[in-house]
Amino acid sequence: MDKIIVRGGHALRGTIPISGAKNATLPALAATLLTGERVHLSNIPHLKDVTTMLELLGQHGAAITVDERLGVEINNSGVNNFRAPYDLVRTMRASILVMGPLLARHGMAEISLPGGCAIGSRPVNLHIEGLRKMGADISLDEGYIRAKADRLHGAHIFLNPVTVTGTENLLMAATLAKGRTTLENAAKEPEVSDLAVFLNKMGARIQGAGTSTIIIDGVDELHGTQHRIIPDRIETATFMVAAAVTHGDILLTNVDPDALETPIQKLRDAGILVEFPEPDRIRVYCPNPLKPVDLETSPYPGFPTDLQAQMLVLNSLAKGVSQITETVFENRFMHVSELQRLGADIRINGNMAEVHGVNSLLGAPVMATDLRASASLVLAGLAAHGSTTISRVYHIDRGYERIEEKLQALGADIQRTNS
Ligand code: EPZ
Repeated sequence: MDKIIVRGGHALRGTIPISGAKNATLPALAATLLTGERVHLSNIPHLKDVTTMLELLGQHGAAITVDERLGVEINNSGVNNFRAPYDLVRTMRASILVMGPLLARHGMAEISLPGGCAIGSRPVNLHIEGLRKMGADISLDEGYIRAKADRLHGAHIFLNPVTVTGTENLLMAATLAKGRTTLENAAKEPEVSDLAVFLNKMGARIQGAGTSTIIIDGVDELHGTQHRIIPDRIETATFMVAAAVTHGDILLTNVDPDALETPIQKLRDAGILVEFPEPDRIRVYCPNPLKPVDLETSPYPGFPTDLQAQMLVLNSLAKGVSQITETVFENRFMHVSELQRLGADIRINGNMAEVHGVNSLLGAPVMATDLRASASLVLAGLAAHGSTTISRVYHIDRGYERIEEKLQALGADIQRTNS
């Protein structure tokens, strides 16, 4: 089982390229099931979750060509299996994203229920209820969602709470449904907007993506196209926090600052200097002491829940007291007990974490619990005195491409061991 060992105290300096967005890649790969023509996707990140999604498409019958440098080419003309098996779905909940496309194009889908997750129960009821409103006949038995539909029809669907993959699943299904579908209270994440751009390039008729009301007029079929995946805003902000907590000075390339308006404002409130030397570049440096910042996570354009753990590390090293409230998931503070092992002074009260800044953290063995939490342990290790050993790093590989290589390039003392 791989571990990562970080010896802290090195200010990060240098330039780092940001990879394509995991949470834009996964729905885009699922969307290729909506056509039997060839689709080419570039700027695909090399992540475990992407490999899992490609494996899932492959067992549906997709013909996949991976070109390390340019991306992937997918031809789904041969798709003849409409079942997403438990052994794949349990490793990656986003597998649920094949349900809408399979149902819309082939009239059937058998998807294993994703089951529980470390950060919360994460039900998929909104995905199911939305597809039922579009005419799907859906039953749940033996741990599988069994869905059938001769042809989906348009519907008016209100999503509560806001759901990112729920919006994406229904958006994809609606592209081939008969008539108009309106998604109210839709997710506005940049990854949803990027999916809509991709689908419209395939011939879909989508308006309003990026707002809370998306209108889709169904068409009879979609055609092949090529698309470049947007940069990963969560990876970008994670490296920005790494520069801040090590008081370094780094340049991030292949980024989209517009997708990070709220996080950048919070980092500036913390005393971090953020500049845009080029439209797709961000310089982050932090000569000053960190200042504590209060924040509450919420759906886009609010503060991303996927950055909550990283901000706990930043606040742990700021002078003063701050409060971070998690409103999206019900159990997303698992990393707190690990951070406390490193000397952080964080007190949990329901969905609120009260952070009392300390002068320094001290390295220790810790355990990753979920994707973004594990990244926060790396950040803490970079700032801590001494050595931090992080176990269960497979969580990190699901969402960060070669994180130790990118950090080594910035001068971090970090290694991966397979002891
Ligand atoms: C997406 O998950 C992301 N994953 C998550 O990123 C991200 O944390 C999350 O959105 C919130 O931004 C992908 O895009 C692949 P939700 P998703 O449906 O879509 C409730 C990462 O680290 N809900 O927006 O699964 C749910 O319980 C991952 O990359 C229902 O009640 O999240 C949660 O409380 C972690 N019923 C809230 O909505 C439903 O049918 C938001 O969940 C669906 C969701």
